[in-house]
Amino acid sequence: MIKKKGIIVAIDGPAGAGKSTTARLLAEKLNYDYIDTGAMYRAVTLFALRNDIKHTETEQLVKLVSSLNFEFKNNGTEIFVNSENVSEQIRSAEVSSKVSDYSKIAEVREILIQKQYEIGEHGGIVMEGRDITTAVFPNAELKIFLTADLDVRAYRRLIEIRNKGQKIDLENVRNNLETRDKIDSSRDVNPLMITEDSIIIDTTKLTVDQQVEIIYNKAKEIIKSLNLHSHHN
Ligand code: DC
Repeated sequence: MIKKKGIIVAIDGPAGAGKSTTARLLAEKLNYDYIDTGAMYRAVTLFALRNDIKHTETEQLVKLVSSLNFEFKNNGTEIFVNSENVSEQIRSAEVSSKVSDYSKIAEVREILIQKQYEIGEHGGIVMEGRDITTAVFPNAELKIFLTADLDVRAYRRLIEIRNKGQKIDLENVRNNLETRDKIDSSRDVNPLMITEDSIIIDTTKLTVDQQVEIIYNKAKEIIKSLNLHSHHN
């Protein structure tokens, strides 16, 4: 595949802030690739559960993760692991409740961060997750911290899950988001945090179109200034 050149847009934020939808639409508008790194942590969790590997069994986990080949298809909306489409299975309640535990493991992160770096290093990419602005691309040209009130995030996620035909109540969704946020923000390795140079966007009162537009305009500004810069040299 020929890599499209462009800037790196790194988006981090808590669960359910709208990172995936925003990043996907932004990538479409910029004609960039979109990468959902959470899908990779979820896939690791799915395969660990299938193989009965606990998050504390580091050696086996490393073996497992090293044996996984990740491919994104369909504009980044589908993930294939060792040629199997696991896009649906990684969204199960079981994976959602366990993924933060597996994501705490430094050795797992090291392997996935390296893979994510290789996917995006040539630019022309919108990558979202928890540590993209801090660990994967600390030098990204544009860094965004996307957030929203917990209740709003829980409600949006509830609608999303119900639209897929799964039954779940608001309290459950809210608890899962809250628990994951706590683990993801307080873990020792690459915790979710806001870098000094990130633009914070609170989407509580924004529509998806509005949040995409804000980031798109910033990206365009940066792309323009970089072009001007290289033009003058
Ligand atoms: O984006 P998501 O909610 O699907 O991510 C699922 C989990 O994966 C999240 O709760 C923590 C972990 N994750 C991570 O540790 N680092 C990332 N860059 C992305 C996700």
